[in-house]
Amino acid sequence: MCGIMGYVGGDRASGIILNGLTKQEYRGYDSAGIALCCKEGIKSAKIVGRVSGLVKLVENMPQECLEARSGIGHTRWATHGGVTVTNAHPHESADKMVTLVHNGIIENSKEIKADLKAKGIDFTTETDTEAACQLLAYLYDGDALAAMTGLVRSLTGAFALVIMFRDRPDEIWCARKGSPLVTANSGGASYCASDPTALLEFTHDLFFLDEEEMAELKPEGCRFFGFDGARKEKESIFLNWDSIMADKGHYEHFMRKEIEEQPDVLRLTIDTHTVLTSVSMERTLDLPDGLMRRVGHVQFVACGTSHYATLVAQNIMESLDDEVDVRAEVASEYRYRNVRGGDDTLAVFVSQSGETADTLAAARLARSKGTHCIAITNVRGSTIDREVKHTLLSMAGPEIGVAATKTFTGQISLLALLVMQLLKDRGSLSASDEARIIGGMRMLPAHVHSILEREGEIRSLAEKYSASKGFFFIGRRECVPLTMEAALKLKEIAYLPSEAYAAGEMKHGPIAMLDENLTVFAFVPDNDLREKTLSNVEECRARNAPIILLATEGDSKAKDHANDVLYIPRTERELFPFAGVAALQLFAYHVARTLKRDIDMPRNLAKSVTVE
Ligand code: M6R
Repeated sequence: MCGIMGYVGGDRASGIILNGLTKQEYRGYDSAGIALCCKEGIKSAKIVGRVSGLVKLVENMPQECLEARSGIGHTRWATHGGVTVTNAHPHESADKMVTLVHNGIIENSKEIKADLKAKGIDFTTETDTEAACQLLAYLYDGDALAAMTGLVRSLTGAFALVIMFRDRPDEIWCARKGSPLVTANSGGASYCASDPTALLEFTHDLFFLDEEEMAELKPEGCRFFGFDGARKEKESIFLNWDSIMADKGHYEHFMRKEIEEQPDVLRLTIDTHTVLTSVSMERTLDLPDGLMRRVGHVQFVACGTSHYATLVAQNIMESLDDEVDVRAEVASEYRYRNVRGGDDTLAVFVSQSGETADTLAAARLARSKGTHCIAITNVRGSTIDREVKHTLLSMAGPEIGVAATKTFTGQISLLALLVMQLLKDRGSLSASDEARIIGGMRMLPAHVHSILEREGEIRSLAEKYSASKGFFFIGRRECVPLTMEAALKLKEIAYLPSEAYAAGEMKHGPIAMLDENLTVFAFVPDNDLREKTLSNVEECRARNAPIILLATEGDSKAKDHANDVLYIPRTERELFPFAGVAALQLFAYHVARTLKRDIDMPRNLAKSVTVE
């Protein structure tokens, strides 16, 4: 989604803003722009394309603009209006009094535009944003707070707005409803950004704007207001991330770096929430006493990769206790269905970013029904962290690549432990299962490490199959979520058609598509379902599809069924996805690399999806 960076202080604003935009490039965008408060008024530079192009434009701006001490910048991911320089942000009001950038969608922009046009105001862009810009200028009579209050009350939809007034060069104004915005003050300067990683080099004490909150940023500090204009006191949140963690280092891509960080993520999660072979999350979770004895229904709710992580959790939960009704739901559907809720239901909302609009809406719906809610997120201070009382933080550190990798691993390890904690509280987790799974989890960092050591083999395989017209990923039971995640990774970063299927479903339709041009990648751990899955593999082979197997180390017979076999270490049955996912991430990565795709910033995608 779009990225915002704002600065007001004593240093050159242009460099700080361009650097902040670069750090948020991973969010996904198609055009970029900056506005600087120069002596002769506010001046903008905008471009279709990358921030690197914007840097060159800014270099050619007048010296007085390069010296500017305040400014705002934006990377736009087009929603309303084509990808053009005119539609790129910042936007300026007709009277040049207001310049603003916006993330989100203003739903009543047509009505606002019609109203202002009737008052004689001309519009120059196709964007919904310009409606907010012109309306604010219309409302402004020298009192910024009053105009801001009037503006936010008139807008419907979702927005993070960052604004400069021509006659207030030492101020930036912000407003948030539905789209994230974080501010900070440090060393005589104030900052704002869409993403906290852009601010970490200045300070770790951050002010995350709440829903329906505004901020006034000045070099000496930030002041906060409700949408009614009333002052609000706000505590900063300390974000325990290192700016180096958000750095690519010597790696070619963030995604590759983040794949490699997974053993550490596993180790940290397991060490934090277990003692020897026991799960120990009670204090972190702090749920009401006896809750799990009362709850008969558990819902896991998320989008995309986070949803696949919850499918892994669903599988573990039902394998350990068949009496709990457990469902993994897609948040964008959950929010519009008449789902069960109330005191006998526990819903777990999972979002890496903590800002996904559908997941937030689903959580709000569940809370309104009196459902007990837990959130799992990777971002302390994110909206879901602040809105849901019981939050567990995954410990993956900042993830910059658009394709989720280490955060998936962080989520599934945390979810596995949460499932065990909940079943333990319910009295339905046997000590032997607990010790078996936690013992198995402790081996995972080494297992993933050994997969990373086989990168050369995986790369060769990826190169060999990168000409394939498409892929089917098939597996059974605990492997089904892994087929989905593998297919999604390949779609996202290699843009290849890839389908995920429960292996037994192939002959109910999809097998009709198979021929020598479609590769079948089957997951056949050495367990009770191995033979059944291999029968499905043989059915695919008989239709001339090239076959790759993901099999358990030591299963030498697997190669009798396939063109190629990728072996992964033997794990506890429930943990096959935990070990296997690194191999599949590397496979997708190297297919995409062979095809010369933009791996960290795939086309049309955004890191956090803050609109519906
Ligand atoms: O931040 P969230 O976990 O809520 O994001 C959900 C999805 O948008 C996300 O997982 C998406 O599918 C990723 N790009 C997958 O790699």
